[in-house]
Amino acid sequence: MQTLAQLVGSARILVCVGRGGVGKTTMSALLARQAAASGRRALVLTIDPARRLADALGIAALTDEPVRLNEPTLPGEMWAAMLKTDEAFAAILRSRMPDEAERASLEANRFYRFFATSLAGAHELAAAERLHELATCGRFDLVVLDTPPALHASDFLDAPKRFHDALDSAAFHWLTGGKGGAGRRGIRIGIGLGLVQKTISRFTGTEFLSELTEFLGQMSALMEGFKTRAAETTALIRSEQAHFVLITAPASDAPQSVSESAEAMQSRGCRVSALIVNRMMPPVALPADNRALAGLLHDAGLPKAEAAALSERLRSSAAEAARFAASDEAMFRQLEQRWSSTLAVEAVRAFPQEVSSLAALDAIRSLLFPERAP
Ligand SMILES: Nc1ncnc2c1ncn2[C@@H]1O[C@H](COP(=O)(O)OP(=O)(O)O)[C@@H](O)[C@H]1O
Ligand SMILES: [Mg+2]
Repeated sequence: MQTLAQLVGSARILVCVGRGGVGKTTMSALLARQAAASGRRALVLTIDPARRLADALGIAALTDEPVRLNEPTLPGEMWAAMLKTDEAFAAILRSRMPDEAERASLEANRFYRFFATSLAGAHELAAAERLHELATCGRFDLVVLDTPPALHASDFLDAPKRFHDALDSAAFHWLTGGKGGAGRRGIRIGIGLGLVQKTISRFTGTEFLSELTEFLGQMSALMEGFKTRAAETTALIRSEQAHFVLITAPASDAPQSVSESAEAMQSRGCRVSALIVNRMMPPVALPADNRALAGLLHDAGLPKAEAAALSERLRSSAAEAARFAASDEAMFRQLEQRWSSTLAVEAVRAFPQEVSSLAALDAIRSLLFPERAP
């Protein structure tokens, strides 16, 4: 079993997974930054449409193409990119279909546009492909993937397969009303019948058929490429070089959600290697003697009754905060007990402000990697 620092120092891919709001984007940036601090060329790849990461990294906007952060103090390199599915799809298409005219005709095809933007699995497939491309292009030693908030990690892992299924010729027969039109298949590939009908109704007459035929012809040529790459991506994500990092908050359902995520990923042949319990309420020191505090407040100029009332309010807020801290700590211990024999388990405390600056990111980083922070 490796420590989080060892994982950051040696993994080729780290995938941060967890529910929305637990800190995936923040932790992804932090892990990449730590890798850069230890001399590696690290890329954080976010699929999160939020601007937070860009803000946290102090760059105006992220693009599909990695940008290097200008940080001469880091011995390694820190890069960041935001995966925009439409751009990622376009990039995939460019590499698969180098002929510009052919590509333009596909892009103009309304079926293609529907397919690239609405078909279940297209987004995740684009993410998986882009991950593969960036992780194997030789420019980065480590790619940290921040998974999108609404997506269950297993959706991402299953995307290549679901996408095949969706492109499966039988599915297209069904779509076009040809043979093998089982409704079940429609559900399985994630296209509701209503949606299909709505889409089809947007096309008219013979134009519809010729456009569809052209689309299917071009797609079937691309299909082999999709299949090969999907298999390669799955193999890469399952390889020893890829590790999943579960991120959770110390909420009461954390044990169950962590178990479910770990199982979902392990059953797909993935290596879950770390668990970060983020936003732990820090321990609170209760005022030892409330009367002494009231005395100090009185000395500072507050009338006696007000000083007593204020000190009492402070004491009860501190007591409440201490209860939260104790409950978070108990939750952490429970998770640690369950998982520390198989995963690197770390706690990160909640900071009073949003983590929206490099300084804030580094403050967390120095707690998580005390021996390594510069
Ligand atoms: N340890 C922490 N202390 C304080 N705020 C945090 C911490 N971790 C994350 N945050 C804040 O919580 C919010 C959600 O974090 P984010 O990384 O965007 O979560 P996710 O990507 O999982 O949705 C952000 O505003 C972020 O700045
Ligand atoms: Mg996020």
